[in-house]
Amino acid sequence: MVLIRVGSPFDHYFGIMKITDVLRAEHAVFHNLFDHIEAAVPGLKGLAEVKALATVVQKLHGPHARTEDSLFMEPLEHCFDQIGQNETFHEEHRKIEAALAGALQAKTVKDAKRILLGAIAASRDHFDKEERIVFPLAERVLKAKTLSELGQAWLRRREMAADR
Ligand SMILES: [Fe+2]
Ligand SMILES: [Fe+2]
Repeated sequence: MVLIRVGSPFDHYFGIMKITDVLRAEHAVFHNLFDHIEAAVPGLKGLAEVKALATVVQKLHGPHARTEDSLFMEPLEHCFDQIGQNETFHEEHRKIEAALAGALQAKTVKDAKRILLGAIAASRDHFDKEERIVFPLAERVLKAKTLSELGQAWLRRREMAADR
């Protein structure tokens, strides 16, 4: 087993992670968060509480979608073109972000709940498609070395974000 040294405090944990494993690990966090939100939202009384949950999803989903768009979808663009899915994935990211922004603009608790739970349902569908179609496709098409290099690129982006 070869450890790739990048001089990072995280490389003990992430030294040889493929980008697909990084993204699957991020998805696992989202699935737990979505379970919590779906259980908690129906019982909430205040608009601010619903919006606080929408903000948490928005703050997590933004960086996750940008990682997928730039690090992951680009090297796979030709494959998505072949299966006619290229615009679909970018478009789904935009739709999820628009729905979360919509929840934050809602004027009533009822609307905020409906829009937030709709955004969560759309996210679950999208994540499921990525897990069933996109990640296995990447692992078939891209070399193991490329998947690890993209994992390293993800790590560098995390470090840059942590330095800000
Ligand atoms: Fe995505
Ligand atoms: Fe994803």
